[in-house]
Amino acid sequence: MPVTQRQITLVQTSFAKVEPIAEQAADIFYTKLFEYDPKLKPLFKSDIKAQGRKLMATLKVATAGLNDLNTLVPVLHQLAERHVNYGVKAADFTPVGNALLYALHQGLGDKFTDEVRQAWVEVFRLVATTMKDHSFS
Ligand code: HEM
Repeated sequence: MPVTQRQITLVQTSFAKVEPIAEQAADIFYTKLFEYDPKLKPLFKSDIKAQGRKLMATLKVATAGLNDLNTLVPVLHQLAERHVNYGVKAADFTPVGNALLYALHQGLGDKFTDEVRQAWVEVFRLVATTMKDHSFS
């Protein structure tokens, strides 16, 4: 299913609501990710707080860029190439996507409606597929 304009808007507005608590959201994300898949932990070599800030910053660029896919796609391709070098595998996108949904739910509470959740599922799928098709077998 292609991402609709309404889903783009939902992702952008819900992301804006977690931005003020980006650091906690990133903490929740990594805690959950390593619970889902402890073997991913050694892949993360730099300071996890700095890493969390980078993740949120890129999600912001990605969500903002959804309206301009011609610009976003090359950015995601380069990001994908770097992720191959980090030792990331295609299968790792699943726990990452699930940890992201979990962190968003914690951060947004009641505002994480089914419709908002579905919008994030589609957007994450788009980002992950764009990255995987470019660099992962
Ligand atoms: C939606 C998809 C993803 C986004 C937007 C994203 C974003 C980022 C960003 C912005 C960085 C900072 C360095 C850079 O820009 O190259 C990074 C690093 C990294 N990401 Fe991702 N990432 C994604 C998916 C994944 C997945 C599926 C994994 C698998 C575990 C992963 C693991 C890592 C690792 C290991 C690093 C390097 C950490 C370090 O040097 O300590 N990422 N990611």
